[in-house]
Amino acid sequence: MTILSAHGIAKRFPARRTLLDTLLRRPAARVHAVEGVSLAIAEGETLGIVGESGCGKSTLARCLVRLLEADEGTLSFEGADVRALQGAARRAFNRHVQMVFQDPYGSLNPRMTVGACLAEALGVHAIVPREAIPARVDALLDMVHLPRDAAGRYPHEFSGGQRQRIGIARALAVEPRLIIADEPVSALDVSVQAAIVNLFLELQNQLGLALVFITHDLRLVRHLAHRVAVMYLGRIVEIGPTADIFANPRHPYTQALLRAVPHIVPGARRDEAAVIGELPSPLAPPPGCAFHPRCHIAMPQCARDLPGLAPRGGGWPVACHLAGG
Ligand SMILES: Nc1ncnc2c1ncn2[C@@H]1O[C@H](COP(=O)(O)OP(=O)(O)O)[C@@H](O)[C@H]1O
Ligand code: SF4
Ligand SMILES: [Mg+2]
Repeated sequence: MTILSAHGIAKRFPARRTLLDTLLRRPAARVHAVEGVSLAIAEGETLGIVGESGCGKSTLARCLVRLLEADEGTLSFEGADVRALQGAARRAFNRHVQMVFQDPYGSLNPRMTVGACLAEALGVHAIVPREAIPARVDALLDMVHLPRDAAGRYPHEFSGGQRQRIGIARALAVEPRLIIADEPVSALDVSVQAAIVNLFLELQNQLGLALVFITHDLRLVRHLAHRVAVMYLGRIVEIGPTADIFANPRHPYTQALLRAVPHIVPGARRDEAAVIGELPSPLAPPPGCAFHPRCHIAMPQCARDLPGLAPRGGGWPVACHLAGG
């Protein structure tokens, strides 16, 4: 069953204006952070969202949990339009869809002990009766493999990996059905990353949570995600089963991303068919297929027509005129 679905989500930000822009009366430019994104997340599934820095992953995540209001598009939670939710239904959405951030320190109150922070989350949504809170805090610490005496300590007393465990425990406190984790291991040492990824895998298996795992590191989603969505300049260019996409990427951008990661494609050289040039500015995305200036197989049509995300000759959806043809 689908928990959360998004249709045609777009989010643009006003670009910062320079003095020269004002003097020359240039029209206000807009950053096209997310454009026309549609996706659905099923109960118990892990969806990986990957793409280079700046491609709109965090903006999309914030739109999905409604920390940001999308400019266009709709969001449905268990089939109901999220914007129309009121009262208890709105609170249920806020409870069941939780976010885990890249920097858990920034999202934890430094003046609150870990126990108080978890108790607060439990209290807001009245998850358990007051007298049951201490036992529930212990259970949450067990779940994320932190010692129970962590409850009496403050966030600064923990390492980055442990702080991320606290952030995860706080998200779990309200018994969510979906967790959206935005680069949850990107700020951590490589040696700690695997442990946190394994924790997500374990929690996902144990609790049947749905998980959206956002990262710029393709290697992280390989064993974690059932499906992967690849973003480029605000749009999803390919979405499908992880094993299939890793074995047979269909979009030239996905192909280049995978080739750029050593050890993923056996025998591939790191620089082979590398993406040409720099990521264009989201202030002025190229017309047609936004990837065309960097695509080594681009044809004239690509600079003109936007390729829609469609199965194109069978298989999973891909946004490329030449896929499946
Ligand atoms: N609050 C904001 N105001 C203006 N521009 C923003 C804001 N948030 C993000 N952006 C811009 O939107 C684009 C996408 O950013 P973001 O969603 O953070 O990408 P990612 O998470 O993939 O790195 C970037 O060009 C970024 O500079
Ligand atoms: S639509 Fe054209 S430019 Fe875009 S990825 Fe496909 S071939 Fe390349
Ligand atoms: Mg981000």
